Amino acid sequence: MLKHHHKLERHSMVLLIGIIVAVSIGGLVEILPLFRIETTIEKVSGMRPYTPLELAGQRIYIRENCASCHSQQIRPLRDEVERYGHYSLAAESMYDKPFLWGSKRTGPDLARVGGKYSDEWHTAHLRNPRDVVPESIMPGYGFMMERGVDFVSLRRLMKAQQLAGVPYTDAMILQSKNDMVAQASPDADGAGLNTRYGSKVNQRDFDGQPHFISEMDALVAYLQVLGTLADIKNYTLPEPAEEGAE
Ligand code: HEC
Repeated sequence: MLKHHHKLERHSMVLLIGIIVAVSIGGLVEILPLFRIETTIEKVSGMRPYTPLELAGQRIYIRENCASCHSQQIRPLRDEVERYGHYSLAAESMYDKPFLWGSKRTGPDLARVGGKYSDEWHTAHLRNPRDVVPESIMPGYGFMMERGVDFVSLRRLMKAQQLAGVPYTDAMILQSKNDMVAQASPDADGAGLNTRYGSKVNQRDFDGQPHFISEMDALVAYLQVLGTLADIKNYTLPEPAEEGAE
């Protein structure tokens, strides 16, 4: 045995191959189980794909690169859980294509910002953050009040998401424009929207301009749903339970 070891250490190529083999085994043991998606994504009820209006909001979030300053992943560390709420579950971003976990926190984490503030707060904050948080360094996005949501590309986007595995039905895609109008109009009939996306969908005017569906409507609708879908209260860790994460 010792003699072989000698051989290994004296020949750099043999040593290199040995290292590659050893590291590969370690890597495979860690990575392969993750491909079995059912063990990677926890079972938690309540998750649904974004409504057309929320999806449009997510596209605006991507376009404006909000992720360059905001993460959407609460880690199971005490300070984060106390500040932002229950740590993020994999299931909560399973319909995010692309995921927006982010890697930088110039501003706070947004994974559970849904329901934390009123729509008026969000609209005022997005128009000029310093109106509500005087020391804020976040840029203003007032132009979103005047820009309408792009209905046409949304349908194509939903088709693409369907292809990528988001469970949008053909009816959801076909009705995308109606569903979007219904969600942003407080007086509209929301029956179709509710059969497709559930009864808990936020249906209201988000930006204070009831007769115009602006990019602000879409972005605020998206922010207001973040972290609110998964039934986190009834979620229990699979055994063995971890300590200190609550
Ligand atoms: C230059 C970095 C930067 C960018 C870009 C940015 N933000 Fe912020 N954001 C901040 C900072 C800093 C704060 C904390 C101060 C404040 O509330 O304004 C913040 C706060 C927030 C809050 C309040 C969060 C809370 O829990 O109090 C929301 C919501 C938010 N940002 C959304 C957005 C959205 C949506 C975008 C993209 C349209 C965006 N931000 C782009 C830096 C940024």
